[in-house]
Amino acid sequence: MKKYILTLFIAVFYLPAYCQSNSAEKVYTIEAGKIKAHVQPTMYGIFFEDINMGADGGVYAELVKNRSFEFKEPLMAWNELKQDGANGSILILNRGAVNPDNPKFIHVTSRSVKGYGLSNEGFHGMGIKKDDQYNFSVLAKQAMGSNVSLQIELINSKGEVIGSTSVTPSSKEWRKYAASFTAKETEPKASLKVLLKGAGSIDLDMVSLFPQDTWKQRPGGLRADLVQKLADMKPGFLRFPGGCIVEGRELDTRYQWKKTIGDVANRRMIINRWNTEFAHRPAPDYYQSFGLGFLEYFEIAEDIGASPLPIINCGMACQFNTCELVPVNQLGPYVQDALDLIEFANGSIHTKWGKKRAGLGHPAPFNLKMLGVGNEQWGEQYIERYKIFEKAIHAKYPQIKLVSSLGPFPGGDIFNFANETFRKLKASILDEHYYASPKWFLQNVKRYDNYDRNGPKIFAGEYAAQSVSTGSPENKNNWECAMAEAAFMTGLERNADVVSMASYAPLFANVEGWQWTPDLIWFDNLRSYGTPNYYVQQLYSLNKGTDVVPLTLNNETVTGQDGCFGTAALDMHTHELIIKMVNTGKEEQSADFVVNGIKMGSTGTMTLLQSDDLTSVNSLDKPLTVSPLKSEILFNDNHVKLRLKPYSFSVIRVKMAD
Ligand code: AHR
Repeated sequence: MKKYILTLFIAVFYLPAYCQSNSAEKVYTIEAGKIKAHVQPTMYGIFFEDINMGADGGVYAELVKNRSFEFKEPLMAWNELKQDGANGSILILNRGAVNPDNPKFIHVTSRSVKGYGLSNEGFHGMGIKKDDQYNFSVLAKQAMGSNVSLQIELINSKGEVIGSTSVTPSSKEWRKYAASFTAKETEPKASLKVLLKGAGSIDLDMVSLFPQDTWKQRPGGLRADLVQKLADMKPGFLRFPGGCIVEGRELDTRYQWKKTIGDVANRRMIINRWNTEFAHRPAPDYYQSFGLGFLEYFEIAEDIGASPLPIINCGMACQFNTCELVPVNQLGPYVQDALDLIEFANGSIHTKWGKKRAGLGHPAPFNLKMLGVGNEQWGEQYIERYKIFEKAIHAKYPQIKLVSSLGPFPGGDIFNFANETFRKLKASILDEHYYASPKWFLQNVKRYDNYDRNGPKIFAGEYAAQSVSTGSPENKNNWECAMAEAAFMTGLERNADVVSMASYAPLFANVEGWQWTPDLIWFDNLRSYGTPNYYVQQLYSLNKGTDVVPLTLNNETVTGQDGCFGTAALDMHTHELIIKMVNTGKEEQSADFVVNGIKMGSTGTMTLLQSDDLTSVNSLDKPLTVSPLKSEILFNDNHVKLRLKPYSFSVIRVKMAD
């Protein structure tokens, strides 16, 4: 009797635990013949915003900070030089009446034969590479009676010259002068000297230094290593230019695309809203030169095969800040900007804006298909304005799909109101944002399971797991967060009939100039690295497949049983089955995958992203601590036995036999 009671006790209290034992092999079934959903080619994309010195001081390769003296402090980043007792003066002049887009310039007078001038500190220094060519340029105007030339020197952190050239401005009118030179040394923290040779005065503006070696070698272009990291993700879309940047802290500082195209000297520089946003991360030197402007955004998207998704201001400044609104009867110019943008992207060269695009060197259209109306807007005011944009845009361009914002949070009153309203309006694409804990990501893997299959598509436009809390400067791009995102993304893929696009946020961060963490890719002046989160995004994008098929355990979707999350898809282009499994538990799991419906080949690959330590991060010095490792696996008679390592994300690819 005693023995019976003991056995019963064990059965009741310990059997469930035994059944869940991680050593017990789980049999996962894949019904490869039953297609559940098509995966959009746009599914995994990227979201670029000029935050964390992502553009100026980041991917835009300009090395001179405040090149046009348009910062609020016109000489910020510049230092007066008086070498060997030289003397002179620097005046700030303003020609706003004749040049409103670039009003300020400097009038430099040297009273010595040499040694007077100024130096620029760059963006936390300038990253210079040995033997690379550097292109200096300046707008200059000799003063009456002057004939000074400019000695240009790159200086390393020891104060030595590591590259030099000179230019001799010849005109008494504004002209551009340029010269190139080769750097003798690699230096992460160089500065640039501009010294006057000869006594006299000269006016200077747009003092610029670029590496020759930019992305696709474009003059005045983008940092090749950073764009390469984007290209390596093969993103389906590029959402740009923000983010709150689009809205502006106030309407005056909103993003206006027309002011970001054409000659860089005429792209009016404005403050970056992240300059002042976080009291704990002030960035007084953060401005937007718009050297990376709308043409460049469209070009990068084209280069890396991503569908462009521009976001336009809808007459609302950031609702976390001033909430300034344009009265609805005065929205005309804002709506016109949207219409003109579509024409700029897609119009023939015989249209006004298509001709403009062609004049900028891109006669072929950019094939714009989507446009975001507002960033993280909410409330009645948004809906009121959105409707006006929607009517005007669809009257002229019915084929353009509009992205509507569901606000900054994934639930609550703001979200529910927008969600219900846009569904009634039969909106095309709803943009949801979630910055939340890793736990939230695991718990929300079924978020889309019950969404209306016939309603609007979902764009997970901004998301990232926060290791501490949203906005905390202590947030880390650690493996716990990346793994939680990988687990959550099984839910995106499983629901690919509803979720058509997804992008991590933010994209870039300068290790010395960031405001927001976590971020996908970090960099300094010479180096960059992908975070564990980057590799998660990349693995999803490179292995997205074309058609989702059921992956089940005991007839249930794999959504956290014993800490495991999974999804499966076919890739009809490569004729492969792709299985993604995330084991968020600390124990290894034995798994037998049985494939029904399609005859599988016998060999495949498994790409593993794993760390035993949930706090693991990558860094500039150790960029590959958490990075993918590929190995061969064997399929036997349509099944494969795998050991899913603790804290791991595995991507399995195997060819179909027939
Ligand atoms: O990604 C950082 C910010 O987060 C974006 O600018 C904004 O859209 C969101 O609130």
